[in-house]
Order: sequence, then structure tokens, then C-alpha cells
Amino acid sequence: MDAVERYIDEEIGRFQEELFEFLRIPSVSARSEHDGDTRGAATWVAEKMKSAGLSASVIDTPGHPVVLGEWREAGPEAPTLLIYGHYDVQPPEPLDEWLSPAFEPTVRDGNIFARGASDDKGQLFLHIKAIEAQLKSAGSLPVNLLMVAEGEEEVGSPNLVPFVETHIERLACDAVVISDSSMFAEGIPSLLFSLRGLAYFEIHVEGPSGDLHSGGYGGAVVNPGNTLADIVSSLKNENGSIAIPGFYDDVMEWDEETRTAIAALPFDVDEFKAEVGAPGLDGESGFSILERLWIRPTCDVNGILCGYTGEGAKTVLPARAMAKVSFRLVPNQNPDRVAELLRAHVAKVAPAEVTVRIEELHGGRPWKAALEGKFFDAARSALEKAFDTPPVLTGEGGSIPIVVDFQEILEAPVLLMGFAPPGANMHAPNEWIPEANFESGIRAVARFYAELGS
Ligand code: BES
Ligand code: MN
Ligand code: MN
Repeated sequence: MDAVERYIDEEIGRFQEELFEFLRIPSVSARSEHDGDTRGAATWVAEKMKSAGLSASVIDTPGHPVVLGEWREAGPEAPTLLIYGHYDVQPPEPLDEWLSPAFEPTVRDGNIFARGASDDKGQLFLHIKAIEAQLKSAGSLPVNLLMVAEGEEEVGSPNLVPFVETHIERLACDAVVISDSSMFAEGIPSLLFSLRGLAYFEIHVEGPSGDLHSGGYGGAVVNPGNTLADIVSSLKNENGSIAIPGFYDDVMEWDEETRTAIAALPFDVDEFKAEVGAPGLDGESGFSILERLWIRPTCDVNGILCGYTGEGAKTVLPARAMAKVSFRLVPNQNPDRVAELLRAHVAKVAPAEVTVRIEELHGGRPWKAALEGKFFDAARSALEKAFDTPPVLTGEGGSIPIVVDFQEILEAPVLLMGFAPPGANMHAPNEWIPEANFESGIRAVARFYAELGS
């Protein structure tokens, strides 16, 4: 371990410079004008895997490529670990809210600001550096390694399941490790017991064949904007629960032990309020804030498009309206089932005088961890040693759809240990990661290998 620690001490400056190079590549998977940059990021990651001591290749898919790194010198008797992360990032808009440019990493107060700093370039790269430190100083790893870096996580991983299925033998492993989530609090590492799933829709309401004068026609013609608002408000009850019949049928009741453990976590409501900056909070009655975030489903409008939204007043009756509406799901909900229930509900509440169309965008299943096994134990003790405090078990409100697929297709347990700070501004302006988290993440992962070897 000492040699590894020393290597990290000596090389941390270069590691950070390399991270900055990575962060400068605008690998926005959602935007075709960035396809060249996204491929450039894949090539860059493959090069870094190689200089860390892995063999690596950039494998094409119908979308953005997958980078596959491998090191198999621990031998056939040793276990095999698969590390997963993503090199693509979310679009940086709104640009004018960034204090420094999204793709020009800038350090302020010991924090690195850039799109992808936490989600997920910083966390993917710290794994590569931990492996490099291990291989360049100790010369070997106690496990065989596979590294899968994908470029389409932020657009719902449309090509990753086919990739995993096609390469099922090559990807055979004993456990999957992912760092694409947050620490519970500053200095408090966490291991995840769950992730929420996602079901994402567009609801289109169409009325008259064109926009109409709201004086000449209003009152006698159905307004798609009003109807859409009715549909949206029919989705939730007064007490914050979701009003779609059957929606809770598959929602798992968590055991008292987990709920007690959640209640025991040090959580400061005022700090949380300050983080979101809203006048007040919301949620389902009967559940704490952390429970609302982690173990309860949600229904949220993500965007609404309708009528006149420019300067001043325009008396118009819009011809159509659209809302993007998504649900975060919890075990054992299924996005396809939620789609059926939503369709049935909307068909019942929508008036016959408009046409309503529902499109399904991407979805992902929720995940519940098996908190046991030698990889879990090694991670727990590595995190405890690296942070001088044992990790807490936490849920996470976000989604990483491939997690359940890895578990099912590769028949391997998945372990999520995150190094992003809470409030990292993932997907928002001014995304950041503390320099300290990048470094302690590298040290924690290096210790994880040391634990696996002992
Ligand atoms: N890394 C996030 C998910 C996440 C965020 C996990 C915070 C834990 C804490 C991931 O990159 C992400 O943004 N996922 C999307 C999934 C979607 C694009 C299918 C999400 O949760 O919205
Ligand atoms: Mn991510
Ligand atoms: Mn993300």
C-alpha cells in the first residue's frame, strides 16, 4: 500500500492536469454536432487506459462507441471485476449561468468546476488513476479487470444492453463496481442500497387545426393548454401521492431496519433548503425527506410547451400543448407497466373534444442492492480506511438504468460507491467536484484493491 500511496502523492498534480484535458472535451452525447468530440473522448479514455497498463479498444456501436479496457494477468483463479462509468456528459445550457465556461475546468476554493466534473468524467477517471497507481507501483492487481466506459448514459444507454449481450463471455465477471453517485456528506462516504428507476413521457394534446383568436372562439372551443393542465393536475393527490390507479401496486414497502437507518443519518433540513433555494419543500405525507428522495416514487413535469410565451400579451387559443412528464420509480416498479397505467388514466380523464397522444421516451428499472459478499466487505473497509469513518448506506434518487441489466445479464452483484459531493450540480450549471474528492476517490479505490488482495 505504501508504494501505491507514494505514487499517488507524487503524481496527483499530473492526474489533475489529465482530468482537465478530459473535461475540456465537450462530449455531449445528446447533440450530433458534438459526435466528433464524443468519439474524441472515447479515444482519449482508451489512451489513458493503455498508459495505466490496461489493454484497451474503442468498440463501435450504432451510436457512440464503448471503450473496453482489460487486464487479465491475475490469472484464471482470481476473481474478475468490471468497472463501469460514462464519458459522455449532459448539455451545458444555460451557458450564461456558468461562472466559468462549462468546458474550461476552473478551480475555485479547491473545487473543480466543469461539465462532467462529477457526472461522470471525474469519477470514471479516478478509477483509471487508481489502477495506474496500483499497476505502476505494485506491478499487479489482485483481481482481473474489465473497464467499460460508455458514451450514451446521458441519453438512456440505447446501445449498451445489446453490447453487453454480444460480449457476454468477454464481460463475464464476479462483481461490477460503479462510481457515478454522491457521497452522503462532506467526509462521509456511502455505499448505495438502491437507485430509482425512470419512466419518461411526452403528453401531446391537440385541439383545433390551428391557433384561434381567444375572443372569437374562446369559451366554445376546448383549449389544449387548459386540458393539458387538467391532465397534469390529475396525476397527483393533495397529499403528494400519485393518483394513477394501480401505480402503487408494485411499490415495495421497505423494511423497518432500512427506514430506521435512514432516519438515523445526519440530515439537516435547513441545509437542504439552502441547497435548493426554494421558499419551501414538497412531498408525500408520511415520509421523511430522504425517504421521499430515495425510496418513494415521484411524478414531475420536466417541461411544458404551449401557446404564446413571448413578450407581452397575445390573445390566442393555442392549437396544441405538450408536457414532458417523468416518474422516478422504486423497486419493484416497471417502466412498461407504468406506461400502461398512465395511458389508461389519461384516456379516462381527457375530454373527447381533443386528441391526446402519449410518447414513451427512455426508461430504466429501479435497483436494490445485495449488501453482502466479499466485494461489498472490501469496499466498506476500504472506504472506512480512506475516509477515517465507515461508509453509510444510502439510497439515491437518480437512475443508472444499466445497473439492473448488468446484474441480470452478467449475473454479478453491482456495487455503487460515489465520490461526488452532495449538491454537485450534476446536469446543472456550475457542476463541480472538490479536488479533495478526486484525490480521496483515487486513494479509496486503490485501498479497495489492497483489501481484495489481503
Ligand atoms: N449519474 C447520474 C445518476 C445519478 C445522479 C446517480 C445522482 C446518483 C446520484 C446519471 O448520469 C444520470 O444522470 N442518469 C439519468 C438517467 C437517464 C438519462 C436515463 C437520470 O437519473 O436522470
Ligand atoms: Mn452519471
Ligand atoms: Mn447524468
